[in-house]
Amino acid sequence: MAATLIDGKALAAKLKKNVLEETQTLPRKPGLAVILVGDNPASRVYVTSKRKDCEECGFYSEEYALPAETTQKQLLDLVAELNGRADIDGILVQLPLPKGLDEKEVLLAIDPSKDVDCFHPYNVGQLTIGTPVFQPCTPGGVMEMLEEYGIDPAGKRCVVLGRSNIVGKPMAMLLLHAHGTVVMCHSKTPDMKELAASADILVSAVGKTGLVTADMVKEGAVVIDVAMNRNDAGKLCGDVCFEEAAVKVSYITPVPGGVGPMTRAMLMKNTLTAAKLHQGL
Ligand code: GUN
Repeated sequence: MAATLIDGKALAAKLKKNVLEETQTLPRKPGLAVILVGDNPASRVYVTSKRKDCEECGFYSEEYALPAETTQKQLLDLVAELNGRADIDGILVQLPLPKGLDEKEVLLAIDPSKDVDCFHPYNVGQLTIGTPVFQPCTPGGVMEMLEEYGIDPAGKRCVVLGRSNIVGKPMAMLLLHAHGTVVMCHSKTPDMKELAASADILVSAVGKTGLVTADMVKEGAVVIDVAMNRNDAGKLCGDVCFEEAAVKVSYITPVPGGVGPMTRAMLMKNTLTAAKLHQGL
């Protein structure tokens, strides 16, 4: 039996429509500032799509494209200025930053109430104790997808491949709060294949084309592919060998059109949350 395709593009469109509708009821439109340092082409693409998302949701947006030579102080000064602006609800610093800039210090400088990425240690802490203000965008998007398709992690074995601060760790936390039994695998996990194959819900966020082969997915499992890789032919693909896994599992996300659009939609949702917070709503 072929798997059901989890349509992230359609769900993201629905989510953004809901955000637009709520935005139209606010006294002041939400404002998002996106900071891009250097000229990483992939980051450039992300930033352009964020601008489009803001337009779709009725937000005000500003974009700062800074040269790779930007100093730590210049970047911190910009963050401080945006922290003080009443028309800016969300501040996003596109990662990774060029070498020489201290990412940790920059993320710490963002006002936690404007931290729409949910990267500030305050918000990471809130997430960990189960009282998050913002949802981390990619893992939050995955949870929305599971809910939309009636997949409840409660009591399920959830295996997360990858332990990044952006995806793996917060993903594990959200699945844990949803009462999943969570196993995290990473580069030093010796039996990753066996653990992956034991998953009811498998989330792969490693960034390695062809990592998840058919023997690593259980019959009937739910497979979520967070990665955005390019294969040898330059085609966008995830970590999962899609064709061979799809014949075995019950649900699977495509790349592109799966998690990616959901990450962007969650950023819009978080910016709306921040705007409501700042307007006392
Ligand atoms: N780089 C890759 N993913 C992300 C993300 O979700 N937010 C930011 N700020 N940078 C990223």
